Amino acid sequence: VHWTAEEKQLISNCWSKVDVAAMGGDTLACLLIVFPWTQRLFLQFGDLSSPAAICANPKVRQHGHKVLASFEEAIKNLDKIKETFAKLSELHCDKLHVDPVNFGLLGEVLITLLAARFGKEFTPAYHHAFHKLVKVVAHALALRYH
Ligand code: HEM
Repeated sequence: VHWTAEEKQLISNCWSKVDVAAMGGDTLACLLIVFPWTQRLFLQFGDLSSPAAICANPKVRQHGHKVLASFEEAIKNLDKIKETFAKLSELHCDKLHVDPVNFGLLGEVLITLLAARFGKEFTPAYHHAFHKLVKVVAHALALRYH
């Protein structure tokens, strides 16, 4: 994947203003609410019985933070995303058997929340750059299936 200087700039500029813990918690909570079949993989996290319960669940928030922190690794290493996610791809594919469609859904949720957070500032150029990023991340995570 080739990243233009502008794309790199847009991604790092936006990311520098993101609260990774809060945005991570919101992203995973939103995924579990909007795409409820994803809850199946997180039953060990306890109470997922309603949107309010999901949003308040500390394990959801903590895990969301972890997931977004690993997105941050991708952002810091845009030219090595495959390598960065090789181990996580093994985990999600071989051990957890996550349907790779869900990697894309998490990316869409993240973009939606970024757009909500930044409003007008999140221009089509940002949208494009982040869309490319979440696609590359989803692809890298799914590589063990290919
Ligand atoms: C665990 C990242 C998507 C299900 C993890 C971990 C990370 C991670 C960093 C922790 C690994 C460890 O503890 O060593 C990501 C990233 C995603 C993603 C960057 C981006 C698309 C998903 C999706 C699902 C999922 C879409 C399910 C629908 C899980 C589960 C665990 C896990 C079930 C283990 C949770 C536990 O019991 O601790 N993921 N993940 N992941 N992920 Fe993902």
